[in-house]
Amino acid sequence: MGVSIEVRGLTKSFGSQKIWNDVTLTLPAGEISVMLGPSGTGKSVFLKTLVGLLKPDEGQIIIEGQDLVTLKEGDLYEVRKLFGVLFQDGALFGSMNLYDNVAFPLREHTRKSESDIRNIVLEKMDLVGLSGAEDKLPGEISGGMRKRAGLARALVLDPEILLIDEPDSGLDPVRTSYINQLFIDLNAQIDATFLIVTHDINSTRTVPDNIGLLYHKHLAMFGPREMLLSSEEPVVRQFLNAQTVGPIGMSEEKDADELAAESGKELPPLPPIPLQLGTSDGTPRRAEKPAGEWCRANGIVPPPGSFLSGNAGVPGVPQNVEAGRAALS
Ligand SMILES: Nc1ncnc2c1ncn2[C@@H]1O[C@H](COP(=O)(O)OP(=O)(O)OP(=O)(O)O)[C@@H](O)[C@H]1O
Ligand SMILES: [Mg+2]
Repeated sequence: MGVSIEVRGLTKSFGSQKIWNDVTLTLPAGEISVMLGPSGTGKSVFLKTLVGLLKPDEGQIIIEGQDLVTLKEGDLYEVRKLFGVLFQDGALFGSMNLYDNVAFPLREHTRKSESDIRNIVLEKMDLVGLSGAEDKLPGEISGGMRKRAGLARALVLDPEILLIDEPDSGLDPVRTSYINQLFIDLNAQIDATFLIVTHDINSTRTVPDNIGLLYHKHLAMFGPREMLLSSEEPVVRQFLNAQTVGPIGMSEEKDADELAAESGKELPPLPPIPLQLGTSDGTPRRAEKPAGEWCRANGIVPPPGSFLSGNAGVPGVPQNVEAGRAALS
């Protein structure tokens, strides 16, 4: 059913370099969350800290009543079985073919027979569109294929929590759409809690239930998708709409002169909030909420045209369009 992850006051530095400070958020059970942030703000470090590969300086990570930060190695090993992780670089073993890479967690963590393992591996490789590539070595395939192989490996233990670092970097736009659809469908099937790191604004606007933004060594905002997409907060607004006008410069923060030069520049209006991507067969996900619910509950008028489009060409849309109309009526 997926478990929630409660992060409290998490702080991480490497030597004298502070990465982020006092990060507090809850990834709700069974929901999909996306973490954004300029390059180098510590998104990958955050994922590695969540799974216990890096130790934070301070703070807690509570999963099923246990604080991962203080767990002993043996207990941590058990908790790690809840996780499926796709690392940013795929982290495949270069000397093993894709089949053995994907089978690795099953051989390491379970006592399943080779024929059971074979069924699972072939099923997951099919799911990510890699059927037929079982014998290839990681060095012989494209970057996008390596990503998908890493994803298949993250899925084999039926994780309760999926941490996915930039699934779409190196993927063409069509495969990115397929991967997004796969996440929504998977989430409906396995109910796991997802945290996806991405730079893809289109995916961010349509896939998750929640969005977070790491910026300038802290968590600028974390909350429901509609909250971030209707936010006027300058950093959030700039990032989620991929604009140059705003506090974020080419190298982290803009200086006073740069900001002064921008003052008076009119910001484009917030674009409509698109509908969330539906499952391919139209069945609702357990965590799915009616379009516009957060805005209504919080007295926020969404940008004009919100919840009417965004899923064009995706199965399951007619139902969502109706939901969107209903949300606005
Ligand atoms: N093991 C490590 N030891 C020392 N510094 C590290 C380590 N891992 C990461 N860093 C530093 O932490 C900072 C954040 O790195 P991280 O990889 O988390 O960024 P990111 O937000 O994922 O960036 P990108 O979007 O480019 O993937 C960087 O300055 C990086 O050099
Ligand atoms: Mg990264």
